[in-house]
Amino acid sequence: MSNKKDKLHFSTKSIHVGNDADETGAAVTPIHLSTTFKQPSFASTEEFVYSRVDSPTVKRLEENLAMLENANYAYAFSSGMAAMTAIFTMFKPGDHVIISKNVYGGVFRLVTRVLDNNGVDFEFLDTTDIENIKKAVNENTKLIHLETPSNPLLELADIRSTSEICKKNNILLSIDNTFMSPYGQRPLDLGADIVMHSTTKFISGHCDVLSGALMINDEKVSEKIKLIQNTAGAVVSPFDAWLLLRSVKTISLRVQKQFDNAKHIAEWLDNNPKVTKVTYPGLPSHNQFELASQQQFSPDNKPVYGSMISFEVDSSVDLDKFAKKLNIITLAESLGGVKSLISCPYSMTHASVPEDEKIKLGITPNLLRFSIGIEHVEDLISELDFAMSDN
Ligand SMILES: Cc1ncc(COP(=O)(O)O)c(C=O)c1O
Repeated sequence: MSNKKDKLHFSTKSIHVGNDADETGAAVTPIHLSTTFKQPSFASTEEFVYSRVDSPTVKRLEENLAMLENANYAYAFSSGMAAMTAIFTMFKPGDHVIISKNVYGGVFRLVTRVLDNNGVDFEFLDTTDIENIKKAVNENTKLIHLETPSNPLLELADIRSTSEICKKNNILLSIDNTFMSPYGQRPLDLGADIVMHSTTKFISGHCDVLSGALMINDEKVSEKIKLIQNTAGAVVSPFDAWLLLRSVKTISLRVQKQFDNAKHIAEWLDNNPKVTKVTYPGLPSHNQFELASQQQFSPDNKPVYGSMISFEVDSSVDLDKFAKKLNIITLAESLGGVKSLISCPYSMTHASVPEDEKIKLGITPNLLRFSIGIEHVEDLISELDFAMSDN
């Protein structure tokens, strides 16, 4: 079932790949917790030896993850940040790496405070404009890393056009696809070399597994990543792999419902007099609506726009009162789960970013980031309406 060329639909494969019955007949993939595996001889070359290198439940998950992104290879990590670290660890002093300016704050911290002594020349760039990328590329450029859409302002980068530049210049292209999930965007099909996910988000879908993944087509890149992963040791645990394999079976249903709810809510917010600005790539007023429609589509080729909305409320809305009135919408960081979550990037995810930088980026104190779940859309709208009311 792991052959990416088979003709089944995405929703069918997400249930079946990695979930074949095993030799016991178990219809659900078992959890193999063993860290070590009995070998037939001292010179054996068995598939499973020690679980940091390979283990059966994780292997099943990786088959499924590869299928989700139409990839030849997938590696499951202990977090999205561990997956991200593995990508950046591939490079040596003097190499130049271009990164989207508006990446997730943790990636910014990784580059500026953890990898700042390793000699790689990391450059943060506004990648919404392809001309900026063309100008920044030089003979030492080895990787372009895009986060599209970005967090929390939902800015897009053009994956196809960037991949053309990369191919001409022998540069790898990696995409953080966390915000769209493999259901909503498949970057390898658009020319990327590596897809990264915080599988903590849509792939887990229930806010109960911390994990990450890299999906890759090229054998040499895959070998490098595998070496880094099993040497550095940031592998996902068998139990978390099992939970992810269970979650992924419902990815098509969950994520499409989240996207549908989000579109409805974005339109409602857009017509609300207490909301001064709505950022959602599915609104025709979004300045990259066309690009979103061309590179973000569901497995049955319908344009999709994600389930993240950023919006600003006017100064008449008291945010402390707003927060206290929430009942089904949870005030919390993270995203992509069946449960709706709301956060204030200014004081939460981006608290450590200097004030003037936040304002320059458009992260104002009254900007809210909404991750829409699968609750009934009318319940979500009436709660937002109540939270913004004067009562
Ligand atoms: C876009 C994006 N990339 C990467 C990460 C890091 O993933 P993790 O928290 O699983 O390490 C996050 C976490 O919020 C994220 O939002």
